Amino acid sequence: MRLVKLIANLGYGSRKEIQAAIKNGWVTDRAGNPLKTDSKTPHDEILFDDEPLDPAPGMVLLMNKPLGYTCSTKDQGKLIYDLLPDRFRMRKPVLATIGRLDKETSGALLFTDDGAFLHKVIAPKSHVPKVYEITLDRPLKGGEADLFASGTMMLEAEHKPLKPAELEVIGEQHARLTLHEGRYHQIRRMFAATGNHVTALTRIRIGGLGLEGLAEGDWILLDDAQKASIFQG
Ligand code: URA
Repeated sequence: MRLVKLIANLGYGSRKEIQAAIKNGWVTDRAGNPLKTDSKTPHDEILFDDEPLDPAPGMVLLMNKPLGYTCSTKDQGKLIYDLLPDRFRMRKPVLATIGRLDKETSGALLFTDDGAFLHKVIAPKSHVPKVYEITLDRPLKGGEADLFASGTMMLEAEHKPLKPAELEVIGEQHARLTLHEGRYHQIRRMFAATGNHVTALTRIRIGGLGLEGLAEGDWILLDDAQKASIFQG
């Protein structure tokens, strides 16, 4: 029964369907021997339809999110889950994003099915900074870096000042900003408060983890070193 539950929880089908698949001999070890429902074969040795099983629970993915995709499982329009294998939507425990990006923001987005890992990344005491590249509608005025670093900036309709954030000016209408928190539309609202408008926004780094080599719309499964690098920002 363990095998039925394990495979059903990976989103391959209902328990009934998996039971049938096992009966039909579609679940085998690497040598092609059909497995029984009480098999103790390790996860990495199991094939379904001649293909290795999807990763076991505890996975962390990094996606380079394209523009126009919503961070949701059931909104209208294009969803970030459309860029992952269909099965991933049916996994138990669920595969959730670690934080969100706006529909019109691109870049680094983490997913995990490991609740403890998710909380570790977002916990303030973990100090995982997030770095964004920003294109603006109008030239910077010059006072933005001091304002953002002040720790006293208030966004409209909020009661708590923003934590200090570091602005690096790259060009007249181009900057890099490091945040230590994540509030709703934070960067767009910060620049709106200075009379400017963000025309393009990309998250390029989460802690020490960047997007190097990952094309828009692509994703990778993180190994232990990559996972650890998130906390070495
Ligand atoms: N700030 C924003 O305004 N949007 C994002 O997606 C992330 C940070």
